[in-house]
Amino acid sequence: MTTDASSGPPRLVRTIAELRALLGAHRRQGHRIGFVPTMGYLHAGHVALMTEARARTDVVVVSIFVNPTQFAPNEDLAVYPRDLPRDLAACAGAEVAYVFHPDVAEMYPSPGATVVQVPSLSRGLCGRSRPSHFAGVCTVVSKLFNIVQPDVAVFGQKDYQQLAVIRQMVRDLDFPVEIVGEPTMREADGLAMSSRNGNLTPETRQQALVLSRGLFAARDRFLAGERDQAALCAVIEDTLRSAPLVVIDYIEVVDADSLEAMPEQLADRAVIAIACKVGPTRLIDNILLDAAQAPGATP
Ligand code: PAJ
Repeated sequence: MTTDASSGPPRLVRTIAELRALLGAHRRQGHRIGFVPTMGYLHAGHVALMTEARARTDVVVVSIFVNPTQFAPNEDLAVYPRDLPRDLAACAGAEVAYVFHPDVAEMYPSPGATVVQVPSLSRGLCGRSRPSHFAGVCTVVSKLFNIVQPDVAVFGQKDYQQLAVIRQMVRDLDFPVEIVGEPTMREADGLAMSSRNGNLTPETRQQALVLSRGLFAARDRFLAGERDQAALCAVIEDTLRSAPLVVIDYIEVVDADSLEAMPEQLADRAVIAIACKVGPTRLIDNILLDAAQAPGATP
């Protein structure tokens, strides 16, 4: 279905009240609403989420809000990259109807007393070095879901743990929204697209390539039959250690759904997730190990 709201540049909305009024009118006309929450500095990975949302719904809302509650005091909130004009152009190209860009006071008029969290899925992986991060994510995504009331919300597999946490939150709290997960978009040389890549220097950009290179090498070994978890992690560790500006936070092999640790000898499916500091910039990446993708595997 085509709606007037999706032709032309997106409308920039800064208040909850205005967005509610606009979306209420769509809902009364029977339009389905798609939602892509972001923190801006948009790249082709974000655009792929918008395109997917547009394919599934009539009216797409993108939020651009650098959410302070998911950053710890020692993290990169102050230097998180921002470029609203460029972001609006990216949204226009993807037939986004509304860009919701509230300021911090609109989202948090007073320090909220309510926190939404999924402790079981938030403790491991990124949660170990960022213990309050996923509570900040879940709380702001809950608020955004209540503001937008989307039929469909699209998230990236690039933030694999975030996607698992959000899916669990939606199940547990009965949010009436379908969560869609989209594959990671990469630069031509393999680097996973990320807003934080905007903070890399030419030198750290080059060294950051070891993340995807290590993951691809481990995936190739897995597809060639290697099932020993330590051997696969060693492939990644060796690759990461070849870059002097890269400091490893974690390399972990987890169950693709529960994110739980896997036995030393892997079965046919798992995810390897990694996080590193590359200079001052924290980057994450992951890859699915799936024996069904091996050449000659029976479908
Ligand atoms: P942000 O990092 O801006 O990411 C917004 C969405 O884009 C997330 O669903 C993320 O997984 C997805 N994304 C990022 N890089 C991608 C890539 N290379 N390929 C495909 N998708 C990609 O994630 C957040 O913002 C925030 O935590 C948020 C959910 C908005 C809550 O504040």
